[in-house]
Amino acid sequence: MIQLFVFVTIMACKWKKQATTTPMDVPEPVREAIEKQICAELHAQYLYNAMGACMQAQNLPGMAYWMYDQAKEEEEHAFRLLEFLTLKGVPVRFLTNEKPEAEWWNDPIDAFKAALQHEKKVTAMINELDAKIRQYDAADPHLGIDKLLKWFHEEQQEEEESVGKTIEMLEKCRADGNPLQSVDKAIAKLRS
Ligand SMILES: [Fe+2]
Ligand SMILES: [Fe+2]
Repeated sequence: MIQLFVFVTIMACKWKKQATTTPMDVPEPVREAIEKQICAELHAQYLYNAMGACMQAQNLPGMAYWMYDQAKEEEEHAFRLLEFLTLKGVPVRFLTNEKPEAEWWNDPIDAFKAALQHEKKVTAMINELDAKIRQYDAADPHLGIDKLLKWFHEEQQEEEESVGKTIEMLEKCRADGNPLQSVDKAIAKLRS
């Protein structure tokens, strides 16, 4: 009897993470806009991995760690959007992704500046996504779009601040006449 109870409890926990048996009616424009954003987040993951690889090849392990860790976060962003659809029983159509904009930055400060520009571009994309799909949440709050968008707005603000702070550290280091290697470990610690 106890074994049966344990089995039922485990299955109930697993079931909670499964999609609903009946797909929710997610409007097509919402699905399309979210699929496009999934592609953008995975592109950001690709870009940060390219930056990480560049830093690693320049013997800057701290900055490489910063970039690789950010790449993981971008993948998490993509999954947050993916699960918004899949947990409603809606499959995801993956779009063709593009190569990173560059694969080499001679100066690590330029890589972080490119990262900041990219984050600003993504912030603009989130604003567009918001403008395009919020009307559907007003029509059906059970879709949960409002909550999802709020999370992304806050995340973008945090990411822009985080990259900006790192650029400030690097520029101060250079202005003080120190090699960028001297601040490398400190940059890794910003993410712990
Ligand atoms: Fe992101
Ligand atoms: Fe980002």
